[in-house]
Amino acid sequence: MIKYKLSGRLSMLAKLADASQRLADIGTDHGYLPLHLLEKGSVEHCILCDINLGPLENAKRSFREADFSDQTEFRLGSGIEPLEYAEVDTVVIAGMGGGLIIDILSQDLKKSKSFETLLLQPMTEQNVLRQWLLGQGFRIKSDHYVHEGSKYYEIIEISDHENDSTFPIHDCSNDLEFGYKITKINKDEYIKFLLYRRHKYEIIVKQLEKSNSQASKFDICFKKLNIIDSILQKVKEEDL
Ligand SMILES: C[S@@+](CC[C@H](N)C(=O)[O-])C[C@H]1O[C@@H](n2cnc3c(N)ncnc32)[C@H](O)[C@@H]1O
Repeated sequence: MIKYKLSGRLSMLAKLADASQRLADIGTDHGYLPLHLLEKGSVEHCILCDINLGPLENAKRSFREADFSDQTEFRLGSGIEPLEYAEVDTVVIAGMGGGLIIDILSQDLKKSKSFETLLLQPMTEQNVLRQWLLGQGFRIKSDHYVHEGSKYYEIIEISDHENDSTFPIHDCSNDLEFGYKITKINKDEYIKFLLYRRHKYEIIVKQLEKSNSQASKFDICFKKLNIIDSILQKVKEEDL
């Protein structure tokens, strides 16, 4: 069995994917997430997809010494193209830019919506992706935040299943940079994420003050600080 360490980001995805039966990992590369889920016995079948042959070979190498040949398929292709309509219940698209995730889901919107759960982990443009998802009628069940190294990773969980414990951060979808929905379970981590982002904006504001930079940039950052403060107040007051 190959030795690998699941990052905090992939561990959170594994936790969220725990209830799946059939899972597809789009842009799988090393294939560690499906390998971990199969080793744990929490998922019955995994389809590992990648647009590039090299990464797909990486994934096959990870599985070489594992005995999961009946429970795995490796498919070369772009995004969700290698999947049939409703073929799996969970689709993971992780470690890619938000724009690329939009491109992948746009390939076939009807097919994208045929999967019960989408676990999306954008590395960039999280706000653009959220805006697009809501605009296309996807239901954001919850946002999740993972602190690892010096970064926060964001996971957007899309699911049609109702969950009463979700709490919308925004009534409307004006500024989705700081998430859309959180739950009781991730409230504390979310507050830490907001404080982290607040600190980042404070640093920028101080730099702008020193450099006598454009007033417009200063205004944008100031507005962001105000948004963070109002969300923080709302989240702390809310009895989740
Ligand atoms: C940075 S790796 C992420 C690996 C893994 N998903 C993770 O989160 O650790 C991105 C992978 O996505 C693949 N990729 C890029 N565009 C893709 C697309 N349109 N369809 C499928 N895979 C794609 C790349 O070949 C690469 O293996």
